[in-house]
Amino acid sequence: MQELDIVILAAGKGSRMRSQTPKVLHTLAGKPLVQHVLDSAFALSPTRTHVVIGHGADQLRDALEGQNVSFAVQAEQKGTGHAVAQAQSQWGSGKVLVLYGDVPLIQTDTLRALLDQVDDTHMGLLTVTLSDPTGYGRIKRNEQGEAVAIVEQKDASRDELAITECNTGIMAMTSEQLSRWLPKLSDQNAQGEYYLTDVIELASNEGTRVCTAQPQSALEVEGINNRAQMARLERAYQSQLAEALMEQGVALADPARLDVRGSLTCGEDVFIDVGCVFEGKVRLEKGVRVGPYSVIKNSTLGPDSTIDSHSVVEDTVGAGDNQIGPFARLRPGTRLARGAKIGNFVETKNAEVGEGSKINHLSYVGDARLGRGVNVGAGVITCNYDGANKHQTVIEDDAFIGSNSALVAPVLIGAGATVGAGSTVTRDVDGHSLALARSQQTQKTPWSRPAKKTS
Ligand code: UD1
Ligand code: CA
Repeated sequence: MQELDIVILAAGKGSRMRSQTPKVLHTLAGKPLVQHVLDSAFALSPTRTHVVIGHGADQLRDALEGQNVSFAVQAEQKGTGHAVAQAQSQWGSGKVLVLYGDVPLIQTDTLRALLDQVDDTHMGLLTVTLSDPTGYGRIKRNEQGEAVAIVEQKDASRDELAITECNTGIMAMTSEQLSRWLPKLSDQNAQGEYYLTDVIELASNEGTRVCTAQPQSALEVEGINNRAQMARLERAYQSQLAEALMEQGVALADPARLDVRGSLTCGEDVFIDVGCVFEGKVRLEKGVRVGPYSVIKNSTLGPDSTIDSHSVVEDTVGAGDNQIGPFARLRPGTRLARGAKIGNFVETKNAEVGEGSKINHLSYVGDARLGRGVNVGAGVITCNYDGANKHQTVIEDDAFIGSNSALVAPVLIGAGATVGAGSTVTRDVDGHSLALARSQQTQKTPWSRPAKKTS
């Protein structure tokens, strides 16, 4: 296999974003722009991947830590040609592919097609025809139709400005060709920069053929410069995801009001109402219905479950036939057995809820294990935290916890036990018994309320 070096340019400031965060770390579908590019790059199994950094270099290093990339620092931004040259000492003897950290949706197949054209006498250039080419470098072709140069907007004549075939910036060549051309770039142009685009003319002049390829969709090569473009690309991307989901048979109340920030896989006959956000890896099995304005993150919901509106579900696994919400908050480590029900204003965390058990209203159940058929009344709290450590509450099968009880962990409620409403339970309760831990009701008869003074 021939070596492949991928160079990703990400040194620019992105000043039009007006942000403390470097442009390429802004997120599209919940993932940094540069990470989208890296994921497409890694799919090509490159020998090495270089990220050229400058503005926000430390933030970029931190954000990309642990990934198989090396960094090349471009201290001063003297143009795209100068940026690529910063990685020159690190690349090998095969092909070099140049990508941009702010062009997030580039697809691996498009890049592969471009790379396939590269050899000792051919280079590859990705171009796109745009109805409004403003700002882009224009592709100049000779009478034979061969690409012979790129002229930047700011350097273009009136005739050249009329060209609609544009430079995407993405190109590929052998490292030998690139190393030969880079030292020949000059900054004698309108922007006083070393333009990478000038390699096209150098290639053409020495008889190296410039082969052009086009992306499947113009979205692939759209770059981000400001927040408005960012928002537009996000919507376009989300709308593609929504189309794909509907093709797979998912019913969406409104494909324009869905946000997937990660991967969402669905079984048959899943219905998703408006305004839902899916983050990380989410799986909805057959017949799951998600009510409006719910947020589901890194969770799997078993068949025929219903999540009613405004619920937030994170790191949760439901076995199926579960009913969640409205207004439920399932925090990490929630495990629902078949038919378990979590109702409105209930918060769970690290909680196993057994088959058919119900926590219907206004409760907090954390660090707890509930058996089958348990009924937790309204306003029940598992007091799992003593100010220093977390403790567990165990509620065995068929226990009944009366409303507004506080279960002070560690504590065990035995099978079939009943806890009277309003109890503060500090000791274990034996199975099949009644625990009452509240002050006795007293009564004074007759009793009349004091009357209001009349002055
Ligand atoms: C560049 C191309 C233009 C093309 C357009 C596509 C050049 C000279 N022009 O123009 O033909 O149509 O992209 O979007 O290449 N960067 C660095 N260091 C630098 C300069 C730039 O890392 O010194 C990075 C930027 O962070 C950015 C990318 O390179 O991600 C492109 O730079 P930018 O200045 O935006 O290029 P354009 O003027 O848009
Ligand atoms: Ca520029």
